[in-house]
Amino acid sequence: MIKPTTTFSTSFEEDVYTGLTTFPKFLYSKYIYDETGDQLFQQIMEMPEYYLTNAEFQILQLHQSALGQKFRTDQGFDLIELGAGDGKKTKVLLRSFVENGMDFSYQPIDISQNALDGLTNSLQEEIPELKVAPQAGMYFEVLERLKEASHRRKVIMMLGSNIGNLLHPKAIDFLHHIEEAMSENDFLFVGFDQKKHPQTVLNAYNDPQGITAKFNKNLLARINRELDANFDLEKFMHWEVYDPETGTAKSYLVSEEQQEVIIQKLELKVTFEAWETIHTEISQKYDDATVRWLADQAGLQIDEVYTDEQQLFKNYLFKKKLS
Ligand code: TRP
Repeated sequence: MIKPTTTFSTSFEEDVYTGLTTFPKFLYSKYIYDETGDQLFQQIMEMPEYYLTNAEFQILQLHQSALGQKFRTDQGFDLIELGAGDGKKTKVLLRSFVENGMDFSYQPIDISQNALDGLTNSLQEEIPELKVAPQAGMYFEVLERLKEASHRRKVIMMLGSNIGNLLHPKAIDFLHHIEEAMSENDFLFVGFDQKKHPQTVLNAYNDPQGITAKFNKNLLARINRELDANFDLEKFMHWEVYDPETGTAKSYLVSEEQQEVIIQKLELKVTFEAWETIHTEISQKYDDATVRWLADQAGLQIDEVYTDEQQLFKNYLFKKKLS
């Protein structure tokens, strides 16, 4: 291994360096999502095997009025969304709340100003009556800011089972951080993908068309593009495992032969043994008892649970635990 003589200029560079010089090797899945990765993820969400998006979409449709009743107060409320994406699912709720004349503001939080601008523009076109107050920044910084900014009810929302990308201790930390930004009357509304037939989970992360493989490999493609590397994508395969006992699905890239890869920008030569792995993603699946335990550890309690017809996915509404 050649040590770089230059310091890292981005966290992408540093994380790639760290992940590929450790054993076992790993890369963070957040780096899959550049422009190409975003497009591939759109395709994943449209695949029949990727049940998550449709299931949660159905939950929001089925329970839109019940949620409106829960959230509303005489002073109105602020709906704060962590990681809104293209807002396709959120728009179901926003439209319903607006049509029912509810008094609320919508405050999407994202680190990408670009993503926020896109979402705000499409909302202004589609639901012109909606009050949108986009918040650029990191989740917890913004939540800290919002804690003082408003005195009416906050509903903090995180859809898409993003929580599932964290192992339990990290998920507890994350939830606890949010809990600290909440007042007694606030709600936290979060999507959790559920344990189910193990084959259904495997199929969602290992489609026959190979879209997921292409998506996962975009990590290597991006390192090639941005860090002048020479990964041969043909020599790596996407591999998915699901442990029905723990509910943990894991994505890997597996080197199909012994090989060397040069990453010019990091002045790094990486060697792979035949069948050596790069771990890229965790997609945790849950049951009620596990969610109850996570919530309890984080100082929260479950107020209500919403699910789809097939109980593939659940959205939990949490409050601060009464002490
Ligand atoms: N993390 C998301 C999920 O758990 C997106 C995802 C789908 C994903 N398939 C993947 C991430 C494969 C990495 C590899 O559903």
